Amino acid sequence: MSSTHWEPLFPHDAFSRTVMAKLDCKRRSATRPHTEIFVTYDDPKQDEKFVIKECYSKIDAITFKETMAKKFEHLMQWNHSNVIKYFGLELQQVKVLFDSKLIYRIASPYYTGGDLKMWAEKNVTPPMTGSGNHGELHVRHDAVGAFLRDLLTGLDFLHTSVKLVHCDIKPANLMLKQEGHRQVIIIDLDDAVLNDVGGEQSETDNACCTPCYAAPELIDCTALEGIAKAPPISCKTDIWSVGCVAIQLCTGAAPVVCQWQKAKDATNEWEGSYSFGKQLKTKENILYQVARLKAKPKLPDLGDDKLDQLLLSFIKSCLYFDMDSRKTAAELQIDDYFTQVN
Ligand SMILES: Nc1ncnc2c1ncn2[C@@H]1O[C@H](COP(=O)(O)OP(=O)(O)O)[C@@H](O)[C@H]1O
Ligand SMILES: [Mg+2]
Repeated sequence: MSSTHWEPLFPHDAFSRTVMAKLDCKRRSATRPHTEIFVTYDDPKQDEKFVIKECYSKIDAITFKETMAKKFEHLMQWNHSNVIKYFGLELQQVKVLFDSKLIYRIASPYYTGGDLKMWAEKNVTPPMTGSGNHGELHVRHDAVGAFLRDLLTGLDFLHTSVKLVHCDIKPANLMLKQEGHRQVIIIDLDDAVLNDVGGEQSETDNACCTPCYAAPELIDCTALEGIAKAPPISCKTDIWSVGCVAIQLCTGAAPVVCQWQKAKDATNEWEGSYSFGKQLKTKENILYQVARLKAKPKLPDLGDDKLDQLLLSFIKSCLYFDMDSRKTAAELQIDDYFTQVN
């Protein structure tokens, strides 16, 4: 393997700082197996820490460089309290045998509160069997409401001001800014798709998704054999994933995708019944079934409380196959659930 120098597309002094620690990567998704996350500092007394994310590009070097330059130039102009702040980007060409690859590094602030996947694992207790509560989940509405509100605020900003579709909204890509605080930051915008062509929807050929959070229209982009081309993605693509995030914040675990049968005379997608018989496990199976056979994430078993029921209808309103039936992030911010929850 031979490499050239780092080319600073957007220079920042974080790149020359001392590496203090490498964040544990084992917990991360396998979508980018070569990613390394480092925490850096210069003067430990100042406590100014940055995160440097280093990974290989998945597409060819020239396209990647153009796409990243355009996206980051755009993204770095903006500031929002619920979206990651990017300080710099540099690239390096690496020759691996006869292949030429790009490694890129991105500098951002170090958020210390952990991601929402960790939060859900730690804070959500699945119902105890035989506890007499019929297996209902007890949702921490104060936290879930605050997290979802921040997520929608950040997404509304990304969709309307930055004109980006994130394409991989999931709890592991939502960080808490500081330990013990509830401010959510949307991270991992490397694969986000610019939606700035004037129309509502964009074509994408490099969307990267995590199957159990991915909207049906995103799935065909992963070029599964034998599946027809999907409709273009839009901001509503992220809204499906918001529903999946809400499910995980209630259940503590990633959504389970299962087959779902719509009743024959139902006028609405949600007027049907689940067939729980088939839980879909492998990535290909989930992708195929969601895209083709109308599988959906299983809804959580919430109680009869008003807030539980409002949260359930919020989740349903995110999970329509028909993109146009899903609300926008701005519309969802004024959903009844948020007017009732603290
Ligand atoms: N700025 C940051 N501060 C703290 N932790 C971070 C930061 N960025 C990423 N992480 C941690 O590293 C994980 C992977 O980062 P991410 O950018 O999502 O990489 P990937 O593209 O491989 O998914 C996140 O889920 C989070 O736990
Ligand atoms: Mg990620």
